[in-house]
Amino acid sequence: MPHVLIVDDDANTRGALAELVQSDGFTAAEAADLREARIQMTRQRPEVVLIDLKLPDGNGMDLIAELEERDATEVILITGNASVDTAIEALRAGAADYLVKPVNVARLRAVLSRVPRPADLKEQIGSLRGELLKFGRFGLLLGDSPVMHRLYDQIARVAPTEATVLLVGESGTGKELAAQTLHELSRRRRQPFLAVNCGAISPGLIESEMFGHERGSFTGADRQHKGYFERADGGTLLLDEVAEMPVELQVKLLRVLETGRFMRVGTNREVDTDVRAIAATNRDPQAAVEQGKLRADLYHRLNVFPLHLPPLREREGDIALLAGHFLRELNQAHGARKAWAPGALRELVGYRWPGNVRELRNFVQRAFILGDETLAAELPALHAAPAAEGAAAVVEIPVGVSLAEADRRLILATLQRCAGVKKHSAQLLGISLKTLYNRLEEYGLQPGRPGAAAHCVTGPGAGSR
Ligand SMILES: Nc1ncnc2c1ncn2[C@@H]1O[C@H](COP(=O)(O)OP(=O)(O)OP(=O)(O)O)[C@@H](O)[C@H]1O
Ligand SMILES: [Mg+2]
Repeated sequence: MPHVLIVDDDANTRGALAELVQSDGFTAAEAADLREARIQMTRQRPEVVLIDLKLPDGNGMDLIAELEERDATEVILITGNASVDTAIEALRAGAADYLVKPVNVARLRAVLSRVPRPADLKEQIGSLRGELLKFGRFGLLLGDSPVMHRLYDQIARVAPTEATVLLVGESGTGKELAAQTLHELSRRRRQPFLAVNCGAISPGLIESEMFGHERGSFTGADRQHKGYFERADGGTLLLDEVAEMPVELQVKLLRVLETGRFMRVGTNREVDTDVRAIAATNRDPQAAVEQGKLRADLYHRLNVFPLHLPPLREREGDIALLAGHFLRELNQAHGARKAWAPGALRELVGYRWPGNVRELRNFVQRAFILGDETLAAELPALHAAPAAEGAAAVVEIPVGVSLAEADRRLILATLQRCAGVKKHSAQLLGISLKTLYNRLEEYGLQPGRPGAAAHCVTGPGAGSR
């Protein structure tokens, strides 16, 4: 039977907690201070320690520091004041969770229900290793580069805990996949995983989408509605684009993360929820705080365990692996045997991929549809589509402009669209590479200087001659 040690200087609290955990099938021991707690721990190793933060002879967190790394003991901190700082410190120090006094019984039960029984834990560690062993893949994430391996290590560490994770990364880097992987490797994996895009819901509806509403609480609310926090109960909720959430609602979000309780719109009755939150953003969260878009207190609460998803250009070694994987998937789905032409992969590796893995996957899909047996001939055309940032897809040429000037504008816009890659631009324009170089020389742009041509489009005099 799993064993719980309860450490609190208040005998009534201890007694009440002991009764509760015993009714949940645990054995319980009590200690009034740190000294007694240490003695108790040598007598019987507890699976769980419920410990008050402020104790007569020290701080509950000290005990966490004393636990050895290989210990399977989970520490749950109980704090009288819901200060964000202590809570964060506790989670960082290795507490599995924290509860605010007065302890919410449902929440404590939920926390205890996830305490792994010894057999569970073994199975879990085993399956984590199994995931790690699969070459170039971790959960739903692909990639075999050192930066990805570092990410996998961090995910494996934080997934089985209750800590809030903040995923930061550019668009298309796999934040949602990382969140799902965290869920899959946690004890909540058999419970729901829901993702809510905080930036996509209109501000007027977001509160009721998150927390639900009672019938008749506003015009059009003709029935009771369960919000994300209720539907994700027991599982994991991804708060995607969290910095886009209206600031007023961020206060309410912080509150539910702190207390595990919320109110449906149109009531003042509190509902308990047991949700592990994962937040994601493709902005720099600190900059969002400085701009007043993200509340500092919410940021600190979410930033307990930040994970950075590297952009594809920082893991060039993975581009061929990903392109190969996506092509294999398509071949399998269509019973085809298409392959990359020689040199095609090298071109993919040389591209900057501003849309990251999503862009690469879309690119492979288009190449697959357009290409015959070998995928290369269509490369330039496909390459042109993912435009360099800010490059217009259309060149407007008013009547009255000379043909030479129209040529010039089209050539420069094409170059910019192809991120300065002249070979692709020439192919798109239907001229030889030599002609392109000649033109650029005519325009006074040194063709040898990388990026010079693309740069000049936005420079002074562009299109004004
Ligand atoms: N590491 C990866 N391994 C395999 N596929 C990936 C990886 N990263 C991204 N993808 C692919 O890219 C798509 C987009 O990934 P995801 O939705 O997780 O990105 P995101 O970071 O949430 O982007 P956004 O900020 O635009 O929402 C996925 O559907 C998947 O096909
Ligand atoms: Mg996303």
